[in-house]
Amino acid sequence: MEHQIIKCKTLFVGLICLLFVGCYYDVEQELYPTVNCNTTSMSYATDVVTILTNNSCISCHNNTNPQGSIKLDTYADVKINVDNGRLLGSVNHDVGFKQMPQGSTTKINQCSLDQLQAWIADGALNN
Ligand code: HEC
Repeated sequence: MEHQIIKCKTLFVGLICLLFVGCYYDVEQELYPTVNCNTTSMSYATDVVTILTNNSCISCHNNTNPQGSIKLDTYADVKINVDNGRLLGSVNHDVGFKQMPQGSTTKINQCSLDQLQAWIADGALNN
C-alpha cells in the first residue's frame, strides 16, 4: 500500500515536470536580444530600408497603397513618422499606437528594433 502511494506520488511529480518542460520553448532572438547585433553607424539606405522591406512595411505603406494613410517608401515619408513618434510607437507596440506589422502577433526581431532605434538616436539621417 505504502509502496503504491510513493509510486503514485512519483508519477504525479513526473507529470507536473513534463507539463513545465512542454510549455517551455525558446526563441533565440528573445533570449539573447543583443548578441551579434550591430547598431553602430546605421544607414537609412542599407539598414533601415532593409528592415522595412523585410518586415513587409513597405508593401503595405507605399505611394500606391498607403494603408492607414502611412507611407514608408521614401526617406521624407519615413522621417515624418519618425518625428511624430509613430514609427517607433507602432513597432515597439507602445500604448496608443497601432501595433505593427499589422496582422502579426509578434514584434519585429529585437535586433531590428535596436537598429531602428539607434538610427533614430543618431538623428535619423538620410545616409
Ligand atoms: C498587412 C499590411 C501592413 C503591414 C505589413 C504593416 N502595416 Fe502598418 N498599418 C497597416 C494598416 C492597415 C494601418 C492602419 C491601422 C488602423 O488604423 O487600424 C497601419 C498603421 C501604421 C502606422 C500608424 C500607427 C499609428 O498608431 O498611428 C504606422 C506608423 C505603421 N503602420 C508602420 C508600419 C511599420 C513600421 C511596419 C513594418 C514593421 C508596418 N506598418 C507593417 C497595414 C500594415
